[in-house]
Amino acid sequence: MKYFRYILVLSFCWTFGGCYYDKEEELYPTVECSVENLSFQTDILPIIESNCYSCHDAANNFGGITLEGYNQLKVYINNDQLVGAIKHESGFSPMPKNTAPLLECEIEKIEAWISSGALNN
Ligand code: HEC
Repeated sequence: MKYFRYILVLSFCWTFGGCYYDKEEELYPTVECSVENLSFQTDILPIIESNCYSCHDAANNFGGITLEGYNQLKVYINNDQLVGAIKHESGFSPMPKNTAPLLECEIEKIEAWISSGALNN
């Protein structure tokens, strides 16, 4: 009887946990996006690496644009092209090219990191 209850609780947690996890984005779209204390290395670089390096690393510098490494990325932050491109603002080529835009939260993180000084942290 004791075991039965244990299994019941366990499977309940499992099921509930699963549902909660699936719907989390829908239920709390903004709570999920933390824009506090962002770090270039752990928060920003992974977004750029996985969405932009296929065309803009040093080897594949499509359009003559390399975003690999902080110093290179900084060039396109300073001239406002990076934000213009990822926010699909008029006058800029929408990026990433020919695919869905970055997630809202990824854009928010990049903007927050830039407005706090775009530090190489
Ligand atoms: C599939 C290839 C591809 C991907 C992925 C891609 N780009 Fe580009 N990007 C290009 C090409 C090609 C150009 C040259 C302009 C054009 O053809 O639109 C360009 C141009 C740019 C420019 C200059 C924009 C302008 O208005 O002149 C910036 C900034 C840029 N990319 C940033 C990014 C960022 C940031 C990402 C990732 C979020 C990204 N790109 C992903 C291919 C790509």
